[in-house]
Formats: sequence, structure tokens, C-alpha cells
Amino acid sequence: MISVSFDRYFVRTNVSDGEQARQALIDAKLLDIECKIAKDADWLYFPLTEKKTKKGLGKILGKIEYEIGVRGFTPVYMGPKTLSEALVGLIPPNLLDLLPRAYDLIGDIAVIEIPDELTDYGSQIGAALKTVHKNFNTVLGKRGAISGTTRVRQYEILAGQKKTKTIHTEYNLRIAVDVAKAYFSPRLLEEHNRIADLVSDGELVIDMFTGVGPFALHIARRHRVKVYAVDINPDAIDLLQESLELNRFAGEIIPILGDAHDYIQSGFDGDVDRVIMNHPAGAFEFVVDACKALKPEGVMHYYDFIGGDNPESSLTEKITGLVSDGGREVARIETIRRVRDSAPYEYQMVADVVIQ
Ligand SMILES: C[S@@+](CC[C@H](N)C(=O)[O-])C[C@H]1O[C@@H](n2cnc3c(N)ncnc32)[C@H](O)[C@@H]1O
Repeated sequence: MISVSFDRYFVRTNVSDGEQARQALIDAKLLDIECKIAKDADWLYFPLTEKKTKKGLGKILGKIEYEIGVRGFTPVYMGPKTLSEALVGLIPPNLLDLLPRAYDLIGDIAVIEIPDELTDYGSQIGAALKTVHKNFNTVLGKRGAISGTTRVRQYEILAGQKKTKTIHTEYNLRIAVDVAKAYFSPRLLEEHNRIADLVSDGELVIDMFTGVGPFALHIARRHRVKVYAVDINPDAIDLLQESLELNRFAGEIIPILGDAHDYIQSGFDGDVDRVIMNHPAGAFEFVVDACKALKPEGVMHYYDFIGGDNPESSLTEKITGLVSDGGREVARIETIRRVRDSAPYEYQMVADVVIQ
């Protein structure tokens, strides 16, 4: 076996003074945490990030007795540190620059987007990602775009356990997710939380396109409310049911499998406080239903994909027209914001709209 060793300046102390010395060196940002602390019968050797004089060390270590010197230390981690380092020799050098710089972490599953030029190297990239970051069990590669009514995309298992289902945690809320069966994006974490912040106890809420239920779950965990959580995808509703067993709630969630239009038209008429419409590719067709459901001064959280130079004014114009087509008027738009980039020069936008 090859043993690797890094030469470092060190501080040597008695074992009995070790913990105090270690803490003092950490506080002074002087302990090299990339090397293991060495030990022999009576002494501990602390690797330092830089050379220090005895006088300088005296100020840091106070009354602790110590010696200084240079010796070899075993590195804490000997593998590659970046995806690109881990793939040297495994993919052509001219393709290393195309490697994805980021990945999504959903529960214990990492999801990466591999550019077309690298699709032949998917399993090498998956294995390399697992070597560099050891905190997940599966690596999935995105295949194609999110599409269809249920807004699900396909995935390829690149490395690790062969699964697409996991439990994801957001602000201590546990959410059952199966990325191959129902939509979920960890990038909406702040948006889930922002909407939950706006809700008050006693509200009646409809989450019209609930998916696996992240908005509904955040809201009902924190507030004494009733949330009807509707989705047309049976897998999404099964996953939501599972999450109901994983958490404790202040309020109540009623999962509904069905079409949001049919559900609202058959059951609600001006009695709902808040409607969440996070289906940016299709929510515009359901504004008329939200208008039927909402009370005067009720709130609609309307999501859409908007491009152009001034997406805020485009969205204002669009939602004002849609509400008017739905037989109601916009009293005011409380917030309008870009939630995330959805394509070059296009954003997923949200408008928090109060209806007259
Ligand atoms: C972009 S996903 C959003 C899911 C969820 N709101 C979230 O933030 O994770 C849109 C969801 O709308 C659902 N959907 C599409 N058409 C629907 C309809 N007519 N009625 C109810 N749900 C529908 C899809 O199944 C999908 O789960």
C-alpha cells in the first residue's frame, strides 16, 4: 500500500494538554484540518497551516508547554477534491470543462444534468461524483425536459442505489419524493417557506396543483388551517399521503386526487381565503376557477413562466386580464417576484394577487 504524507510545521504538546491546545489552534485558524493529528506514546503533534514563531505561538497557547518542528502528516482525505479532478484520465481532457458545476440534492439522491457531449460518460461522472461527495446514496442524471400534464421528467441511474424515491427535508419538514413519478424541486424551498409565512390561522386554503404537497405541508405544519391539496397525478397524492404520516401538523390537509377545475367548480363559491397556483406552464387556464373560489380580499398566488425585458410588468398585465376574464377585479398585487431562472431570458415568476 502506498502511504501518502504531507510535511507540515507542527506544535507538540502533552496528551493531557491536547484538547486545550487543539481548541486554541482552531480558534486561531492555525490547525490544518486537512491533515490528521499525529500521536506517539506521550505526545500529540498538531499540523499547522503556516509557520509561526515560538513567541507568536506562546500568545495562542498561553500556559500550555509545547515544542515546534516539521514532520510528515497523513492527509484526512486522499481522493480527488473536484469532479473534474476525479475524472482526469477517464474522459477526454477537452470535455472536462463541460462538466456540470452544480447538482440538486433531494434527500439522499443527487440529481445532475449532463450536457449532450458527455452523455457517453454518464456512469463515470456518477461514480466520480460519489467519490468526491460522499453524503448521498444515488446519482441520477436528468434525461430530457420536464413535460406533460404531471410535469415529470425521466432520469437515468448513474451510480449508487437503484432508486428514485427518497425522503427530502426542508426546514425539518419531511417530504416523501419520487422524482420519476411526481414533480418536486428543492430549489423552491424558500418559496414554500415564504408562502407559509403569509398564512394566518383559521384560513381555508386550496393548493390547486399540489404535487407531492410541499406548499400544503409547510402551511399546515405551522398554522391551524384547512388545506385542500389537489393534484391530477395519483403518484403525487400517494406521496403526499405518506408525508402526512412523517410529520406533525397544527392544521389539516385533505389530499384530493382530481382535476383542479372540476374540483373547484363542483365545490366552492367565494368561500376560500387563499389559492396556490404553482403550475407555471398551465395555471393561466385555471384563474377563472380561482376567481370562483376566492372570497373578496382573498389571495391568489399565481405562478407563470415569463420572459422579456420587464417580466414584472408583463405578469401584472397578464394576471390583471385573466382575473377580469374570470369575472373579478384585482384589488392589489402585494408581491411580484422572480422565483428562479427557467430558461435563458425567462423566469418562473409569482404574483401574490388580492382579489376584489
Ligand atoms: C409544477 S408542478 C408543481 C407541484 C407543486 N405545487 C410543487 O411546488 O412542488 C404542477 C403540478 O400540477 C399538476 N396538475 C397538472 N394539471 C392539473 C390539473 N388539471 N388539476 C390538478 N393538478 C394538475 C401536475 O400533476 C403537477 O404535480
